[in-house]
Amino acid sequence: SPHLAYRGPQLFIEDLAVADLARRFGTPLYVYSKASMLAALSAYQRALKGRDHLVCYAVKANSNLAVLQVFAQAGCGFDIVSSGELHRVLAAGGDAAKVVFSGIGKTRAEMRHALEAGVMCFNVESEAELELLSDVASGLGRTARVSLRVNPDVDAGTHPYISTGLKGNKFGIAHERALATYRRAAALPGLEVAGIDCHIGSQITDTTPYLDALDRVLDLVEAVEAAGVPVHHLDLGGGLGITYTDETPPSAETLVQQLLARIDARGHGHRKVLFEPGRSLVGNAGVLVSEVLYLKPGEQKNFCIVDAAMNDLARPAMYEAFMGIVPCVTRDDVPATHCDVVGPVCESGDWLGRDRDLAVASGDFVAVLSAGAYGMSMASNYNTRGRAAEVLVSGSQAWLIRERENPAELFAAERLIPQG
Ligand code: LLP
Repeated sequence: SPHLAYRGPQLFIEDLAVADLARRFGTPLYVYSKASMLAALSAYQRALKGRDHLVCYAVKANSNLAVLQVFAQAGCGFDIVSSGELHRVLAAGGDAAKVVFSGIGKTRAEMRHALEAGVMCFNVESEAELELLSDVASGLGRTARVSLRVNPDVDAGTHPYISTGLKGNKFGIAHERALATYRRAAALPGLEVAGIDCHIGSQITDTTPYLDALDRVLDLVEAVEAAGVPVHHLDLGGGLGITYTDETPPSAETLVQQLLARIDARGHGHRKVLFEPGRSLVGNAGVLVSEVLYLKPGEQKNFCIVDAAMNDLARPAMYEAFMGIVPCVTRDDVPATHCDVVGPVCESGDWLGRDRDLAVASGDFVAVLSAGAYGMSMASNYNTRGRAAEVLVSGSQAWLIRERENPAELFAAERLIPQG
């Protein structure tokens, strides 16, 4: 990213040295570049220019209020998956009329909250959910606009990363059931069919599965409309990958252009088009900064023990995901050691990087790269570790956008039982 680069030995995020931020705000520390987020968003917006569209940022990727605020101010909509995320969007100044509500397990209370807030659309994932939503909306005297999330069952063999768009997967309505479910939606009280959507997976690095899924979706739209149910918008989900190491995903512009070309070629150019990107908007905008606590040489392995752990960044432990790790200040006065970068949590699975060569000493700061998505939003308090602080950088300005959690806060909601 142009917003994260070395100037001499110092790693900079926009116009600030990352090591200075680590000293100023402490570690572990998430730092995000505002310019990087806005640049990622404008890649989508450029390709969608002149077309009825809405980019709905997938809140789950990074749900800090200030991050949502930046996107809301840039005109974004939001893709939410819980009542909690809706509360965040509204608190950040987001517009409920630009919110799509996804997820397979919406509760009655969540439906009510979203209807009262006036969300744009519910992405309905099952027939049972459709019935309940009709009941809740009718009870409130409101109309729920719905889009059915269809499972396009695109071939996994050729595209191994697209695991949420396959049969046998818990997401979406099976392709074969979609037409009947649209008919049902059109007949039920309290519902209005608004669109169709699909989301085939995450960290996708090729346009082919998107185009395959789009073809399946357009086949359905044609069948549903032939049955007399108009389908207005196409929501093509999120899932575009980023570069963690050597992946070469298409740019958002390329992906969107190819999808729009196919939409137009098939005569659907009049439709509003939605996307739900998460990772590709924030992933490369953020780093997790951590202090090297100890170097621990061993017979079989050397360990670099840092103060960030799996509770701060779960992706390596959970998915064996590769995240780049670099020193915040490069040095040539110590030799590089071949090591595993691990955190203080009491689990062998608590590692951030394996088999890295790092020239660092205790007290140095390292940055885990591409940590802006699914980093802080998946953080936990395991081992009673307070969650990291978060900072947003714009040019040479840095704002603390989330305070570091202190130990007392961690158990403030817990209660002792009566004595004796
Ligand atoms: N829309 C729906 C319905 C989704 O389920 C997701 C992500 C998105 C949009 C956004 O997808 P994105 O553009 O971020 O790929 N924790 C995992 C990723 C889980 C993605 C879940 N769904 C990770 O750290 O890799």
